[in-house]
Amino acid sequence: MAAISKRLLLSDLVSSDKIDQVPSNYIRPISQRPNLQSVSHDLSIPLIDLHDLFGPDRGHVIDRIGRACRDYGFFQVKNHRVPESTISNMMQIAREFFNLPEEERLKSYSDDPSKTTRLSTSFNIRTEKVANWRDFLRLHCYPIHDYIHEWPANPASFRDHVAEYCRSVRGLALEIIEAISESLGLNKDYINRQLGNHGQHMALNYYPPCPQPDLTYGLPGHTDLNLITILLQDQVPGLQVLRNGEWVAVDPVPNTFIINIGDQVQVISNDRYKSVLHRAVVNCDRERISIPTFYCPSRDAVVGPAPELVTDDEPAVYREFTYGEYYDKFWKRGLAKESCMDMFLAT
Ligand code: OGA
Ligand code: NI
Repeated sequence: MAAISKRLLLSDLVSSDKIDQVPSNYIRPISQRPNLQSVSHDLSIPLIDLHDLFGPDRGHVIDRIGRACRDYGFFQVKNHRVPESTISNMMQIAREFFNLPEEERLKSYSDDPSKTTRLSTSFNIRTEKVANWRDFLRLHCYPIHDYIHEWPANPASFRDHVAEYCRSVRGLALEIIEAISESLGLNKDYINRQLGNHGQHMALNYYPPCPQPDLTYGLPGHTDLNLITILLQDQVPGLQVLRNGEWVAVDPVPNTFIINIGDQVQVISNDRYKSVLHRAVVNCDRERISIPTFYCPSRDAVVGPAPELVTDDEPAVYREFTYGEYYDKFWKRGLAKESCMDMFLAT
């Protein structure tokens, strides 16, 4: 078994030390391994064309989004109005960033989850017992002017391309949030107004090739703590979603985004929509990049079930909390438990 690495980042361990076995601190106990042979590839999540969201057929698209949120917790979107060039520049600059020399990348390194810009590895190396096969650059990105000066300045066009991407994806997030409100029978501004000043974070996930992908994860099964996640992935498969107790691969479709419901939508909808377990697995041959945008409330926003969705038959499942409290508990607990929601149940 290979020794535990002294390198800070996994990508440098993989590329420089040329390991041919997964180091022991990445190996999951047998009962928790991904079991890649039993993953289904033939069930796909709904692909929704957003073109009609802006025309007379809006009601039909809202229905499809509502059904996808209720039945899957996941859907894909096309005709989303984020320009192809914005997407390809984002993916390209992420790739360039992870290809920078080690000492250049390490300028952004931190293992402190409260930092608003940081490059790190695994999930939370301060609290976790088993590491994950991933490096990631995490950025807070709304309001942009509060954070852009912290972002990497190398590659030279990093800030410009990422800022353009963030602005464009934020527009999409707001459209989806409106659609989700409407699909729940709420005023279309309802969720928007529950988010305080709003927040937007993103991760640039880098999953290096892995010599033994059946022993470890890029990310183990988890739910996202935020409101909605808009995921951009490259052409390498790796995302899997839990559906009816079975892991289903969500293989990449060019120029679409994958959208999933996070814990905050589950809370606001009072459990009508479920924040679904998903995970990222790795493979032997190819590196993979995925870029989730986590749209969220601001820290001071108070979140709880929408009063219109609380009835005598369906009492409030969750208590009210600030998003800051939820966020801090999520990072402290880590991914050893799949979700944090049990800490916020109504009494
Ligand atoms: C995440 C996540 C999936 C992926 O970062 O929360 O679920 O495919 N990523 O990288
Ligand atoms: Ni996730």
